[in-house]
Amino acid sequence: MALPLLAAAILYAGTVVLSTAVTHCPPCGNTTVPYPLSTGSNCGDQDYKVQCDAGTLKFPSANNSYVISSVDPDTQKIVIEPAEFEPGRCITEDITSVGVQLNSTLPFNITGDNTIMFLNCTDTLLQSPLNCSSNSLCHVYINNADDVAACENASICCTFRAGGSTTSYSITVRQAGCQAYRSFVDLDPSLPVSKWGNPGLEIQWLLPQEPVCSSQADCASDGGNSTCRVDPSNSGVSRCYCISGLFWDAIVGICARSKFLFVQISSPKSVYQ
Ligand SMILES: *[C@@H]1O[C@H](CO)[C@@H](O)[C@H](O)[C@H]1NC(C)=O
Ligand SMILES: *[C@@H]1O[C@H](CO)[C@@H](O)[C@H](O)[C@H]1NC(C)=O
Ligand SMILES: *[C@@H]1O[C@H](CO)[C@@H](O)[C@H](O)[C@H]1NC(C)=O
Ligand SMILES: *[C@@H]1O[C@H](CO)[C@@H](O)[C@H](O)[C@H]1NC(C)=O
Ligand SMILES: *[C@@H]1O[C@H](CO)[C@@H](O)[C@H](O)[C@H]1NC(C)=O
Ligand SMILES: *[C@@H]1O[C@H](CO)[C@@H](O)[C@H](O)[C@H]1NC(C)=O
Ligand SMILES: *[C@@H]1O[C@H](CO)[C@@H](O)[C@H](O)[C@H]1NC(C)=O
Ligand SMILES: *[C@@H]1O[C@H](CO)[C@@H](O)[C@H](O)[C@H]1NC(C)=O
Repeated sequence: MALPLLAAAILYAGTVVLSTAVTHCPPCGNTTVPYPLSTGSNCGDQDYKVQCDAGTLKFPSANNSYVISSVDPDTQKIVIEPAEFEPGRCITEDITSVGVQLNSTLPFNITGDNTIMFLNCTDTLLQSPLNCSSNSLCHVYINNADDVAACENASICCTFRAGGSTTSYSITVRQAGCQAYRSFVDLDPSLPVSKWGNPGLEIQWLLPQEPVCSSQADCASDGGNSTCRVDPSNSGVSRCYCISGLFWDAIVGICARSKFLFVQISSPKSVYQ
C-alpha cells in the first residue's frame, strides 16, 4: 500500500525538479543518475563525482573504478560490484590498486551493512581484531561457493562487519595482508551460501549542501527561490541559499516549501491506510 504512494511522491518531486538551481545529470545508459551524483562538470554536485563509461555507471576509487549495480537516492546508498577473481586464483583483480580506496575527504563512506570476507590472507592477520578462526563465516563461504573454489587452498581467511573507523573508506587488498575479498550487503549468515545473492559493497553519501555559486546568476534558474551568499562555515565559498520561508531539500535538490517535502506529500494519505 505504501509503495504506490511513495512512487507518486517521487513523481511529483520529479516534475518540480525541472526548474531548480541544480542541474541533474542525464541517464547513463538506462540508469538514472540522481542528484547529487555527477557524471560531468555541468551537472550534479562536483563533490559527488561518478563515471559514466559507455552506458555503465561506475564509482571511482584510487586508480580504479567499480560498476554500480544499484543507486537509491532516498537512502543515499550505492551498491558496487566487487572486483572479479583472477582466473583460477584466490586473488581479486583490484590488488593492483590496493582494493577499494575511497577518498576520505569526499562525502562517501562504506556502510556498516556490509559483511566482508578477506581471503588468502597471511598469518599476520591472525593478530588482527577480525574473526579469522577456523569456524569464521568465510570458511563456510569458500567451501560452498563455486566461484571461489581456488580459495579453498588458501587456508587463512577472515570475516568482519564493515563500519569501524578503519574500514569506512577502504577495503585493502595487498601481498602483505589479504589477496582477495568478497562483500555481501545485509547478509543473513544463517542462510545457506547458495541463497546469499550477488556480492556487493554498499556505500553511502552524505546529503549535499546547497549548490556553490559565484554570483546570483548561478542561482537564477530557480526563479528567485535562492540567493547567492557566503557560506557561514566556509567563507571561501558562496552557495545558493533558499529565501526565507523555503528550505533546501537535499534529496531532490530544490528550495521547497517544507523541509520535509517528501514526507509532507505522502503522509496525509498514509494516515488513512
Ligand atoms: C536499455 O534498455 C533497452 C530497452 O529496455 C534495451 O534494449 C537496451 O539494451 C538497454 N541498454 C543497456 C545499455 O542496458
Ligand atoms: C594467495 O596469494 C598468494 C600471494 O599473492 C599467491 O601466490 C597464491 O597463488 C594465492 N593463492 C591462491 C590459492 O590463489
Ligand atoms: C595510484 O597511482 C599512483 C601513481 O601511479 C600511486 O602513487 C598511488 O600509490 C596509487 N594508489 C593506489 C591506492 O594504488
Ligand atoms: C581527494 O579529494 C579531494 C577533494 O576533491 C582532492 O583535492 C584530492 O586530490 C583527492 N585525493 C586523492 C588521493 O585523490
Ligand atoms: C567467529 O565467527 C564464528 C562464526 O560466526 C563464531 O562462532 C565465533 O565465535 C567467532 N569467533 C570470534 C573470536 O569472534
Ligand atoms: C588444492 O591443492 C591441492 C593439492 O595441491 C590440489 O590438488 C587441488 O587441485 C587444489 N584445489 C584447488 C581448488 O585449487
Ligand atoms: C558514514 O558517515 C556518516 C555520516 O558522517 C556516519 O553517520 C556513518 O556512521 C558513517 N559510516 C561509516 C561506516 O563510517
Ligand atoms: C519556487 O518555490 C516555490 C515553492 O516551493 C515553487 O512552487 C516554485 O515552483 C519555485 N520556483 C521555481 C522557478 O522553481
